[in-house]
Amino acid sequence: MPFVIWRAVAIPVPALRALAPVLVFLAHTGIQSTTINAVKNGIPVKNMLTKLFDSDPKYLPGQYFEGFKIVKIVGEGRYGICYLITDDKNLYILKHLKKKVYQENPMKIQYEEEILKALKHEAIPRYIRKIENNHFTGYVLEYKQGTTFETMIFNQRHVFTRNEIHHIGRQLIDILHYLHGKGVVHRDIRVPNTLYHDHHIYLVDFGLARWMDNKKYKADIDFSYFGDFLIHLYYTSYIDKPRKNKPWYEELALRSKELVFLKKLMGIEKRYKSINEVEVDFEEIFTDFCVKE
Ligand SMILES: Nc1ncnc2c1ncn2[C@@H]1O[C@H](COP(=O)(O)OP(=O)(O)OP(=O)(O)O)[C@@H](O)[C@H]1O
Ligand SMILES: [Mg+2]
Repeated sequence: MPFVIWRAVAIPVPALRALAPVLVFLAHTGIQSTTINAVKNGIPVKNMLTKLFDSDPKYLPGQYFEGFKIVKIVGEGRYGICYLITDDKNLYILKHLKKKVYQENPMKIQYEEEILKALKHEAIPRYIRKIENNHFTGYVLEYKQGTTFETMIFNQRHVFTRNEIHHIGRQLIDILHYLHGKGVVHRDIRVPNTLYHDHHIYLVDFGLARWMDNKKYKADIDFSYFGDFLIHLYYTSYIDKPRKNKPWYEELALRSKELVFLKKLMGIEKRYKSINEVEVDFEEIFTDFCVKE
């Protein structure tokens, strides 16, 4: 018997000894190293085994699952794993929700599903179907081709011109018009959740989306995210090193109307009440100088 396995089964605690056959079994199934390391590091065996048996399955490229072939993993976040999958005709996204998340709060996953089912917009992935069994909870979504703004900004180091910022912001305002008109607040409009392809923007990840109630879930949270998103785009043309303790409104070279607009979005100045108000100011700022650029 290899030394590490001997160490694991030789622990002088009666309860652990009782588990020795399980550990030996695990040792032969290829999942022994985590178990044995955990034992060596003193992690309670009960927790360890619960964790082991409760852990979510992970699928590898080329593997088949529910009639789809896994192409690759495209993202792994707090709530789950997103796979690019195919039925050999089209590409889709499979969003696998972590067991822990839906066991602790099944309502949390219900909103994303419910809200996506209610939406029909070119810039938002369509909900295709749910997959649920003893080992898996998740859903299949339409695949939107594109590069995340996160990748464009931080990996590709793309510098966004004012014209591009206008073009992108304009599309996001249209999406927000649609969402807010449907009574939905997205609450997570960030650079990893927005894709860009062929001058079109797509908004994904409705994991935090909620029905507006004008109390806890109000439209203005999307305005703050929209402001923060635009500030990310503005910073791509900022050449000095960003200095600590200096806020964006002192660092970025912004025109006075742009500054007020962003401050209102961010809630530093009196907040906008509706997407219509946002749109009016946005168009005024950009039509001023974009065409001349
Ligand atoms: N419909 C889609 N089409 C193309 N790419 C997508 C789609 N949905 C998600 N992605 C990609 O997968 C990544 C992760 O997806 P998503 O943001 O929905 O999950 P997450 O961040 O893990 O979720 P959560 O924030 O709920 O934990 C996204 O950043 C995006 O790159
Ligand atoms: Mg996300």
